[in-house]
Amino acid sequence: AQTADPLIVNPQPWRQDLGAGVDAAPYGVPSKFEADVIRRDVPWLTADAVSSVNFTPLHALDGIITPNGLCFERHHGGVAVIEPSEHRLMINGLVDKELVFTMEDLMRFPRENHVYFLECAANSGMEWAGAQLNGCQFTHGMIHNVQYTGVPLRLLLEEAGVKTEGKWIMVEGADAAGMNRSIPMEKALDDCLVAFKMNGEALRPEQGYPLRLVVPGWEGNMWVKWIRRIEVGDQPWHAREETSKYTDLLANGVARRFTWEMDAKSVITSPSPQAPITHGKGPLVITGVAWSGRGTIPQVDVTTDGGMNWHKARMSGPSFDKSMHRFYYEMDWDGAPLLLQSRAHDSTGYVQPTKDALRKIRGENSIYHNNGIQTWAIDADGKAENVEIS
Ligand code: MTE
Ligand code: CO
Repeated sequence: AQTADPLIVNPQPWRQDLGAGVDAAPYGVPSKFEADVIRRDVPWLTADAVSSVNFTPLHALDGIITPNGLCFERHHGGVAVIEPSEHRLMINGLVDKELVFTMEDLMRFPRENHVYFLECAANSGMEWAGAQLNGCQFTHGMIHNVQYTGVPLRLLLEEAGVKTEGKWIMVEGADAAGMNRSIPMEKALDDCLVAFKMNGEALRPEQGYPLRLVVPGWEGNMWVKWIRRIEVGDQPWHAREETSKYTDLLANGVARRFTWEMDAKSVITSPSPQAPITHGKGPLVITGVAWSGRGTIPQVDVTTDGGMNWHKARMSGPSFDKSMHRFYYEMDWDGAPLLLQSRAHDSTGYVQPTKDALRKIRGENSIYHNNGIQTWAIDADGKAENVEIS
């Protein structure tokens, strides 16, 4: 005979008293039972929190949109706190007229809405020499996917009038790091946005409030936060972030430079080391995310035996250009150990490489642009571990 489930037959405390009324939290916060779903850092990675990074808890999320409070943060000089009425955006250099915009000025330009992923070029960087961090939050969490509202950068440059010699822009932040990068004019005029809203609300301070540059599909470092200046020039500036950093040192000592586009990549978010299988044998939902800086993701393959057999995953949710895609692979788990991997195909036909294939071409000196296939080993208890197989 079955014993009655007390959670079904007994009245629970939450139905014996009235709950909190409206306005208990004028700006809503997640359930207290979700307290574990937070950004996390890796303490040994950096010496100081003002020039550091934390990671999006990918293992606990679903769908394609990253909630604002969970978007990973990467600061070179801490978070600038800017009163929007005191913020200015300046365009100077090779233009017909140099301009200064207030936030109010920017609100009078036509705006657009687009969903884009931002991935730090250093995402998965700690995994170049082998499996290291146990959790997809740490191996893949330097990414977020957000709907931005902003003014096309093209409209602002047109307002200033770019001279014919103007082939590059330099974008600069108002933070203590004054972080700056060079961007070719072609990209600036194509799809870059000067954004002030993320997922409908004002940018969070961590994400560049009140204004950030959006550079779709290109490495996160170029998405200058707290953007204050755009200079038009005839050549790149060779700033710190495009010489000493954010270049890829090959085995022969040559450094690849200006590797802007993010290659197609995917990862299984659950099960994964921080999201083990706890329910035993039977129906199992495998899920993950995939993205490409060159377009959409029409297909993701999943293997449960370390690449001997690949299965087409089921894509679910909107498929936007240069945005995260969500995939699922449902199976009946017999309780045997698994070697889980996912492999993204993007709309250009490019297929995500294995880590070995990547290392063959790029060597092991690199930190940036590691888009190799990730493996999770699942044991008979459902626990998951970051491993590499060849
Ligand atoms: N912009 C400024 N002004 N200062 C910074 O430190 N960090 C860059 C970029 N823009 C940075 C910046 C890096 S390396 C990345 S990966 C992204 O912002 C991170 O954006 P996020 O903090 O919104 O995740
Ligand atoms: Co970065």
